[in-house]
Amino acid sequence: MKTLMELLASERLYLLKTRISDLLESDPDRMERMVVDTDDLVADFSKNSVDVKTLDLLLELAKEKNVEAFRDAMFAGEKINQSEDRAVLHTALRSNSTEPLFIDDVDVRAHIASVKAKMQGFSNDYRSGKLVGYNGKPLTTIVHMGIGGSDLGPRLVFDALEPVVEGYGQTHFVANIDGAELTSVLNKCNLEETLFIVASKSFSTQETLENAKRCKAWVAKAFGTEDAWGKHSVAITARADLAIADGYEEQNIFPFGDYVGGRFSVWSAIGLVLACAYGYDAFEEFLEGASRADKHFQEMPLEHNIPVLSGLITFWNRSMMGWHSLAALPYCYPLRKLADWLQQLEMESNGKAVTREGETSSLQTSPIYFGQQGTLGQHAFYQLLHQGTEIVPCDFIGVAKPYDDPEHHRMLMANMVAQSRALMEGRSLPKVMELNPGKERKLLHQKVFPGNRPSTTYVLPELSSKTVGYLLATFEHRCFVLGALWGLNSFDQWGVELGKEMTKQILAGEDDLAHNSTLDKSSRMLSKYLL
Ligand code: F6P
Repeated sequence: MKTLMELLASERLYLLKTRISDLLESDPDRMERMVVDTDDLVADFSKNSVDVKTLDLLLELAKEKNVEAFRDAMFAGEKINQSEDRAVLHTALRSNSTEPLFIDDVDVRAHIASVKAKMQGFSNDYRSGKLVGYNGKPLTTIVHMGIGGSDLGPRLVFDALEPVVEGYGQTHFVANIDGAELTSVLNKCNLEETLFIVASKSFSTQETLENAKRCKAWVAKAFGTEDAWGKHSVAITARADLAIADGYEEQNIFPFGDYVGGRFSVWSAIGLVLACAYGYDAFEEFLEGASRADKHFQEMPLEHNIPVLSGLITFWNRSMMGWHSLAALPYCYPLRKLADWLQQLEMESNGKAVTREGETSSLQTSPIYFGQQGTLGQHAFYQLLHQGTEIVPCDFIGVAKPYDDPEHHRMLMANMVAQSRALMEGRSLPKVMELNPGKERKLLHQKVFPGNRPSTTYVLPELSSKTVGYLLATFEHRCFVLGALWGLNSFDQWGVELGKEMTKQILAGEDDLAHNSTLDKSSRMLSKYLL
């Protein structure tokens, strides 16, 4: 008997020769099977190179890989991040369950509730002008400093809510060690009214700690005392001990558990900036949206489960069809940072070649995620999507209800629908000849669109705290499903360590890098110019 992978491989051969548009035409049940329509999100998988038979095989694969049992283990707080011996419980941050949930005899829910209460009090004080700086002036400007997961989520959501939730004060983000970023932000701030949020799960990240150090020095100089920093800063971290050692008082520390991965941390105290800018209620609604997506992921049968289907189709495109990348294309200016956030989520989680068992993966794992908001991408890289030699599966994300000018919105959505259609249908040579009578052969060929390029479209009913929470949690769960299918530990990130280590080595050897024989020749030469 053939294995599931062998059956999928035969399907591949058939589907490579089959046009998606023919599948749509010929199968009367396709829309029923390949569209999931919920109140929170509509996901249209029908423009993918997958037929119902493939889908059934993929669903079998999800069962064979124990996706459901693994999911339940995550929600139950089992230590599924085995390489770091940690539970994976970002879902607990947005759960409204009151049942105790213990990790190593500590009730996670009680801790989460107490931090949330602290966030609520703090953000209310900020927004009502009660939170004052060293000179007694209300703090009205936030500089959020963090990088990776301590930056991308809050930054994305901050932009996403701007048109739909009334904001308070000024908010800036700084991530880079490049001093120009911090300088540019500080130039916009009135120090007397500025609050610095230092966000670092590990409280040991070079970029964040160095930026914080520079701000601290600036504050000390401006006020003539180091004491002022305590009135102008808070720390958010899973290592309160390190923040305390760095001089932060406990009352100025917002902790979260090490069971929250950095790239899954926007739901934790890392989201304090959102509560301050948009109000604690908006932050709670954001969590509620995510909690609804959790419920969907936990309760919907696999064949109607959006993250499961999305994961299976991404697996199919990458590991069976062999397509290298995935384009994230939000037709929504407020979601303009989505691709940046997805890059870390997916590529840091599943950009791995070794399985949980320590074996080299026999399958290609994470695709390369990239993207841009529509319609900007159309005027940049869509040429390759339509006519390039690479097939790039696309995720389109649109919003049903206008959040700004309705006419512009209609044009934006028309562009999105047209693009997924054009990618799928293409334009054949006979059609090009018909449209360009008498034109040279070589020109005609250049105007052909091969089509048959797959895409998925996600539609949010509206743009709101809730729907943004729902969308992000859905992508988190897709990432989880992919990790389970590939047998990876999606929750560690050893691959980021070597570069950090070598940076330290280089900085430590500063004096004579150009002649340092422990460095390779190229690095020595570069050091001569750069360090
Ligand atoms: O270098 C990668 C990383 O460890 C990410 O996983 C993390 O989100 C980011 O750095 C920032 O880490 P921290 O929040 O500990 O400063």
